[in-house]
Amino acid sequence: MSNDCTLWPPSTVRGIKVLDRSLFTKLVKIPFAKIPTKSIGRIAGAPLMKQWTIERMNRIKPIMEADTKEEKLILFNPDTFTDEVKNSVRNSFKELLELDPEFGTKEFTLTYEDWDLKRCLDAIFDENTRISSFTQIGHIAHLNLRDEALAYKNVLAQILFDKLPKVKTVVNKLDKINSNFRFFEMELLAGEPEYITEIKEFGLTYRLDFSKVFWNSRLSNEHHRIVEKLDRDCVVFDVFAGIGPFALPAIKKLVAKVFANDLNPTSIEYLKENIKLNKIDPQRIETYNLDGAQFIREIISEKLTMYLKEDSCDSLKFHVLMNLPALAVTFLPNFKGILDGKIEMLSHKLNFFVHCYTFIKATEEKPMSWFEEQAILNVRCSLDLPNLQMAEVHHVRTVSNLKEMFCLTFELPFDYFLSSVNNSMKRQIDTENQHEVKEKVPKLDS
Ligand SMILES: C[S@@+](CC[C@H](N)C(=O)[O-])C[C@H]1O[C@@H](n2cnc3c(N)ncnc32)[C@H](O)[C@@H]1O
Repeated sequence: MSNDCTLWPPSTVRGIKVLDRSLFTKLVKIPFAKIPTKSIGRIAGAPLMKQWTIERMNRIKPIMEADTKEEKLILFNPDTFTDEVKNSVRNSFKELLELDPEFGTKEFTLTYEDWDLKRCLDAIFDENTRISSFTQIGHIAHLNLRDEALAYKNVLAQILFDKLPKVKTVVNKLDKINSNFRFFEMELLAGEPEYITEIKEFGLTYRLDFSKVFWNSRLSNEHHRIVEKLDRDCVVFDVFAGIGPFALPAIKKLVAKVFANDLNPTSIEYLKENIKLNKIDPQRIETYNLDGAQFIREIISEKLTMYLKEDSCDSLKFHVLMNLPALAVTFLPNFKGILDGKIEMLSHKLNFFVHCYTFIKATEEKPMSWFEEQAILNVRCSLDLPNLQMAEVHHVRTVSNLKEMFCLTFELPFDYFLSSVNNSMKRQIDTENQHEVKEKVPKLDS
């Protein structure tokens, strides 16, 4: 459908930057056939109903009340209801209902309330200004506008607010991303400044303050993919846990234990709240509010040492989740030597898997294999293990033009945990910012 269609908002709304709802009013003439109410059931599913009747709108529907209860009006699309179509519809009615119905046209005044979201947006915006996407997180609609569309942000926000019944708040994502905690700076465009909301992902409920913590609904398949790999014999260390979209379903899958960490105190608050909200046994999870480097060097080191001293450790599999794609790779050297001086040697196999996320950005078009190679190189370089084999290189999503996100899964060899930390490595860790490590890693991007 296009702006030339009858059942389309008036062309005067094209390009408006302020929402004047009265501009959407339009008088239309819609062809109808009058049918006895008792016969409606016999034609409701007939092909002619699908092919020629109008699409359902807010107040206007393909079958509507007539003046009396005994009759109904079948409304036809005014743009396709030619004389030829009318004759074939008349013949179909004769065949199906054995009657020759009355045909006519009826006037309707369509208003802003009658046009659905798609019609409103398509009528206002052209190819260049059309929004690329918006995401709904509970009652919050979250826009990500291209520069060309910025001038239309208010009208767009107001339409989303009006047309999506669940939406109470509309925000625009600003360019700035909070560099520590990865949530977006945002601007309120419509509705109330209420950022605490609830969402569901694979049967679990997450409460969060979208203005203070990270959430990305596009990662739900990724959360599911990783959790599917886990079973009762797994111990999970989530280094950048956020509000728990890996940790909580992992517990639901009855893994042996989850240790979840995040540097953002508000994320940890919500993680704890979500444990309660989903009636998860708090004994199954320990939460930490530490820098990821400290979590690896102190908590993973301590817990791993503890498990390795237990006989039951043979059957355990350890999974470390590192979903901070802009920086996770730079945290990898922190694993070096974490068991140094704690465990002499290993009397059994250590199953220690790392799932490390990374962004790779190119400056020009490259094949996907190039992005994969860069991702692998980043991991090997950061760990200083040039021959490390990847168990899996998974493409998570295309973030934007020339920017891809991957999850690399690999087993860390036991002697990596025993290697003594050399001086330069200590310095990298002691500074607690990862710059020196980062310098060794090619093409990391935020
Ligand atoms: C991309 S989010 C991922 C959150 C969650 N795992 C998910 O999938 O939704 C990264 C998380 O890392 C946290 N973070 C950022 N820097 C950190 C650091 N140095 N140490 C620990 N956590 C950090 C942020 O607060 C954020 O919650």
